[in-house]
Amino acid sequence: MDESSRLEGDVFDLEVTGTLPADINGTFFRVQPDHRFPPLYEDDIHFNGDGSVTAIRIADGHADFKQRYVRTERYQAETRARKSLFGRYRNPWTDNESILSPTFTAHPKVDPETGEMVCFAYEAGGDGADCSVDVAVWTVDADGKKIEECWYKAPFAGMIHDCGISENYVVLALTPIKMDFERMKRGGNKFAWDPNEDQWYGVVPRRGAKSEDIIWFRADNGFHGHVAGCYELPSGEIVFDLTVADGNVFFFFPPDDNITPPDGVAKRNRLSSPTVRWIFDPKAKKSAIRTPAAGDADVWVADERSKPVVTWLTNGEFSRIDDRVTTKPYRHFWQAVVDPTRPYDFDKCGPPAGGLFNCLGHYTWSEEHFHTDKPAQNGTNGKSGEEGKFGLEDMYFPGPTMTFQEPTFIPREGGAEGEGYLIALLNHLDQLRNDVVIFDAQNLAKGPLATVHLPLKLKLGLHGNWVDNRDIEAWQRRRGTNGDVGPVQVATEPLPWQKKLAEQNGTGA
Ligand SMILES: [Fe+2]
Repeated sequence: MDESSRLEGDVFDLEVTGTLPADINGTFFRVQPDHRFPPLYEDDIHFNGDGSVTAIRIADGHADFKQRYVRTERYQAETRARKSLFGRYRNPWTDNESILSPTFTAHPKVDPETGEMVCFAYEAGGDGADCSVDVAVWTVDADGKKIEECWYKAPFAGMIHDCGISENYVVLALTPIKMDFERMKRGGNKFAWDPNEDQWYGVVPRRGAKSEDIIWFRADNGFHGHVAGCYELPSGEIVFDLTVADGNVFFFFPPDDNITPPDGVAKRNRLSSPTVRWIFDPKAKKSAIRTPAAGDADVWVADERSKPVVTWLTNGEFSRIDDRVTTKPYRHFWQAVVDPTRPYDFDKCGPPAGGLFNCLGHYTWSEEHFHTDKPAQNGTNGKSGEEGKFGLEDMYFPGPTMTFQEPTFIPREGGAEGEGYLIALLNHLDQLRNDVVIFDAQNLAKGPLATVHLPLKLKLGLHGNWVDNRDIEAWQRRRGTNGDVGPVQVATEPLPWQKKLAEQNGTGA
């Protein structure tokens, strides 16, 4: 864990080198874990910090900065106590006894056609800490009402971090990093990497789904990164693209000792992380199996094992696309890229915290791999694929003392897919400072159009999103007293799962 920042504050009119495009009007929000108080465990991991949000507001060629902690129940409780109350990451046996939390994905997806938000939770069946194999998938409509809900069984209690949505399906990537109830009770880590387990992909219908509709596809071991695109082919098969590393990215969740010795950070920095394209047939033949973790519940698994259709040797992470083409065929994606062949000033910078993401990459699928109305060229699920480059690579390397955090795409109004800007946080590893850099998304190699200088160092963040100011204003109108959705209503009674837990614990609702 690196040093806490603990900063909340505002900086008006940040210094800018270059020119901020006049048509940019919105806010770049990014989140970071930032421990407010010394953690209960000295070896606590970065993810376990308190939620902190940075907002870079860009309008009229100027940029302003704001940073705040999220006022969660944890924040309030720890503020009252003036100390940490939570123990290890998502392990309640190490928390102060006053704590309880449900689960919800960090990666909901919004369908740009319908305005629906598709979201999910794993370890969802109980109190969010019971290592259950229950997976819930919901859809929330454009007005904020839940319109779909279905519960599924996973083969084991593992991490499902990100998902993809096509017009009619959701794809859930189940990573072989496993929870263990007994290990948690002993005060150990929530997760352990299992190098002997498959990677799994659960495919479920978006509408009117039943529990038995899930189909799990399994493939050789790998560690899932984030999802680029997901869409359906005319054949009804689903294209699903994401980075998959060839080993344990989360070195802080080593395998149980009885499997293999732990991997270190050095090993993590040597991992290869290509962009992998899978094609899943949601109508594939499947059978119900039983697994130790799922007990007597049916787990529906495709009869045929899956193999990547193409493996683009990108070696990056944090894939992002133009969100306007979510669910649709897409041509462009962007990543923070690891290029170990570039120079790195170890003397000035030390080891690169958060990984050596020393380049930003813009990738354009070739015509052959940009599937619109034609079937996939590289065979279908179950057939082995090709490895290499599958389109254009446009790369920017800032220098030997800098790394990037996740980039985010800013669409240009009226522009075609991929026309717009790319915004990312740049880490100056030799200085206590960050920049926010803005590129022409179609030409990273020529360097940033504008560099916004922050007079401080931000913590390593996890994710960011761009929100156009017209969307913020539209929601403010809809949420207004006379708006069609109206102001947020505070819950007047416990939620169903909270009541159930209260009954189980005998504490009353
Ligand atoms: Fe993520």
